Amino acid sequence: MQDRTITIVGAGSIGVAFAIVFARAGERVVVSDPDPARRARVDAEIAERLDDLSAHGLLEGDEAAIRARVRVADDLAGALASARHVQECAPENEALKRDLAREILALAPSDAVLASSSSAIGASRFAGQLPEGQRARCLVAHPGNPPYLVPVVEIVPAPFTDPAIADRTADLFARCGMTPVRVAREVEGFVFNRLQGALLREAYCLVRDGVIGVADIDALVRDGLGLRWSVIGPFETADLNTRGGIRAHAARMGPAYARMGAERGQNDPWSEDLVARVEAERRAALPIERWEDGVRARDVGLMRALAARRRGASS
Ligand SMILES: NC(=O)c1ccc[n+]([C@@H]2O[C@H](COP(=O)([O-])OP(=O)(O)OC[C@H]3O[C@@H](n4cnc5c(N)ncnc54)[C@H](O)[C@@H]3O)[C@@H](O)[C@H]2O)c1
Repeated sequence: MQDRTITIVGAGSIGVAFAIVFARAGERVVVSDPDPARRARVDAEIAERLDDLSAHGLLEGDEAAIRARVRVADDLAGALASARHVQECAPENEALKRDLAREILALAPSDAVLASSSSAIGASRFAGQLPEGQRARCLVAHPGNPPYLVPVVEIVPAPFTDPAIADRTADLFARCGMTPVRVAREVEGFVFNRLQGALLREAYCLVRDGVIGVADIDALVRDGLGLRWSVIGPFETADLNTRGGIRAHAARMGPAYARMGAERGQNDPWSEDLVARVEAERRAALPIERWEDGVRARDVGLMRALAARRRGASS
């Protein structure tokens, strides 16, 4: 296994950024792209980004050694010859991804995993036509941009993806310092973009209706919701913002949120059962007797985030 590589197919924004993620973690990386101009830029782009990471104290390990772990291959067959994980980062085009998946799986070793960085095209769409033995090794691993700065990656299997392959992919990303998040099934936009879309849809409505301006929405998220979300997620926020935890929050705020949803034509009130399920997960993570500790941890996290912002502003 030691000689096996991570192969990146498509050396654009995401491909180059993923090469950094894997090489930084000690993996041997091969990068491939049909465009010779892109291939020629890979090493310089990686060097620039590593310099930036280093300047901000975010690079562990030797820059030259990280760069030396990345090889740019002239042809796809050579890039895939010893791949154990293929990260496909080609343009967001279903027909292109379908043809590419067929080509990759024909050229890569028979146990290689094919993970697509796609933002919206599930493995059902790009690998559904492939033989069972091949498509079982296909899934989506959707990053934030750029993945060496935004650690979350959504692991999205198709119904035909072997669950062991999803586990293996999540393990690889975790070992490389990322935060793999398991999505149970393919839904449009996966989860990252559904959440982003929910906020953006409402923001557009509020601007349309003259309630607030664009810059103030951005300020509200940057210095309010987003600042807090850089420390804790929305369920943790609801749980820690109301004494009594998330059940008390749902009782107090649920009806108002249901009315706001109905105003936009969305009728998904939080049922008793649903709140109980969410509460069970929160209480398993933080027993109610330790609620005050959670509040303090949130506040310490916010202080660290503010201190880091202040250091960033003065550097
Ligand atoms: N940019 C983002 O914010 C972002 C975030 C998450 C996921 N993604 C997804 O990552 C993928 C890549 O996006 P990007 O922003 O890096 O695009 P990009 O345009 O920057 O890069 C695409 C690269 O693919 C190469 N390419 C073209 N045809 C190819 C082929 N047949 N085989 C292999 N490579 C080919 C191009 O030469 C180019 O270098 C897309 O599926 C996109 O949806 C993008």
